[in-house]
Amino acid sequence: MKTVEVRSGSGDYRIHIGPGLLEQTGQWLTEIGFSGKLVVITNPLVRKLYGDSLAQSLEGSGFETITLEVPDGEEQKSLDTAGRLYHELTIAYAERTTPILALGGGVIGDLAGFVAATYQRGVPLVQIPTTLLAQVDSSIGGKVAVNHGQLKNNIGTFYQPRAVITDTGTLKTLDRREFNNGLAEVIKSAVVWDRELFAFVEQNLSKIKSLDNDTLEEMVVRTAKIKAEIVGEDERDLGLRSILNYGHTVGHAIESASDFKTTHGEAVAIGMLAAGKISNRLGILDRNELEKLQTVIVEAGLPTAIPDLKMEKIVEAMRHDKKIFHGKLRFILPRMIGEVFISDEVSSHLLEEVLVG
Ligand SMILES: NC(=O)c1ccc[n+]([C@@H]2O[C@H](COP(=O)([O-])OP(=O)(O)OC[C@H]3O[C@@H](n4cnc5c(N)ncnc54)[C@H](O)[C@@H]3O)[C@@H](O)[C@H]2O)c1
Ligand SMILES: [Zn+2]
Repeated sequence: MKTVEVRSGSGDYRIHIGPGLLEQTGQWLTEIGFSGKLVVITNPLVRKLYGDSLAQSLEGSGFETITLEVPDGEEQKSLDTAGRLYHELTIAYAERTTPILALGGGVIGDLAGFVAATYQRGVPLVQIPTTLLAQVDSSIGGKVAVNHGQLKNNIGTFYQPRAVITDTGTLKTLDRREFNNGLAEVIKSAVVWDRELFAFVEQNLSKIKSLDNDTLEEMVVRTAKIKAEIVGEDERDLGLRSILNYGHTVGHAIESASDFKTTHGEAVAIGMLAAGKISNRLGILDRNELEKLQTVIVEAGLPTAIPDLKMEKIVEAMRHDKKIFHGKLRFILPRMIGEVFISDEVSSHLLEEVLVG
C-alpha cells in the first residue's frame, strides 16, 4: 500500500493506493475520525462486485451503512438523479456529518461528489474509485459535476474529498475497453509531466496489460502523484491544470463526431498523437519522440486514427465547443515527452492535415 498526499485550500487529504484496500476502508475511515452512519452511493454492477467487501469492512469497524443505488451510465450524471438522491438521503436521516462514499467509476464519483457538495451545503466525501480512469484522474482534484442539456459537466463545483481509497485489485474486473480508457489518461499524464512514468509504461506494458499487482500499483501511484501535484498548484483550474487537457481538444470533438462510438480514451489517444504530429510539423517535437508516443499508443491497444471519420464533423464539433477562434485553435502541444506548452497558433488547416495524413 502507498499513500499520495493532495494539497487543497479546503484541507489536505490522502490517497491510499494498493490491491485489497476495500477491506481496509473501515479502518481508514475510523482513522480520519468518522463514526456512526455512512452512505454509500454506487451502481448495481459495482455493488454486485464490491458492495459486500466494502460493507463487511465498514461493519467490522462499527459503521452503520446505508447503500443508495443509481443505474449504470453517463446519463445518470443529471440533476434528476441528484434530486432523487437528495430525497433518499433525507429519508435515511443523513445529517451534515454523515459521510458519502462514492463507490464506482468517474460517473459515480462525479455524481455522488456533486450530491455531497450540495446536500445540506456539503457533507464529507470519500472517493472509492473502481475504474482506472477514476483512480488516476477523476477521483483526484475535487471537480464534481452533472451534465445538463447537451453539455457535459456544466453544472458543478470544486469539492475535495476527505480521503481517496484506491483498491487497484478492482481493476481486474474491468472491461478491456474501460481499462484502455484509463491507460490513455496515464499516457497523457506522462507526456505532460513525467518522462520517467512514460518510460515505465513503455517498459512494463505487458505486465500492465496482464494486470500484475505490483506494476498496476506503481503505475496508479505515479499517475495519481502527477494529478495531485498539478491540482495542488492550481486547484481551481485557472492555469496549469489546463495542461491535463492534452489530447482532449481533438478528443472531445472525435467523441461527439463519432456519436460516442469512439470511447473517451480512444479519442484522447488520437488527439494526443494529432497534437504530437502538429508539434513535430511546427519543428518542435523531435521525430523520435513522436515515434515513441505512437508506439506506446499502439501497443497499449489504443487507436491512432479512425478510418471513416469525417473531417467536417470534427471541425463542426470543435466550432460548437467554441474551440476555434478565427480559424485558430488552442492546443496543448508536447515539446518533448514529459513537457508540454500551450499554443494559440494552430490553424484548423494544419489540424486537418495531421488528422487526414
Ligand atoms: N471529475 C473529474 O476530474 C473527471 C475527470 C475525468 C473524467 N471525469 C468523468 O468521469 C466519467 C467517466 O468515468 P469512467 O470512465 O470511470 O466511466 P464509468 O463510471 O461509466 O465506468 C465505466 C463502466 O465500468 C463499470 N465499472 C466500474 N468499476 C468497475 C469494476 N471495478 N469492474 C467492472 N466494471 C466496473 C461501470 O459500472 C461502468 O459501466 C465521465 O462522466 C467524465 O466526465 C471526471
Ligand atoms: Zn480524459
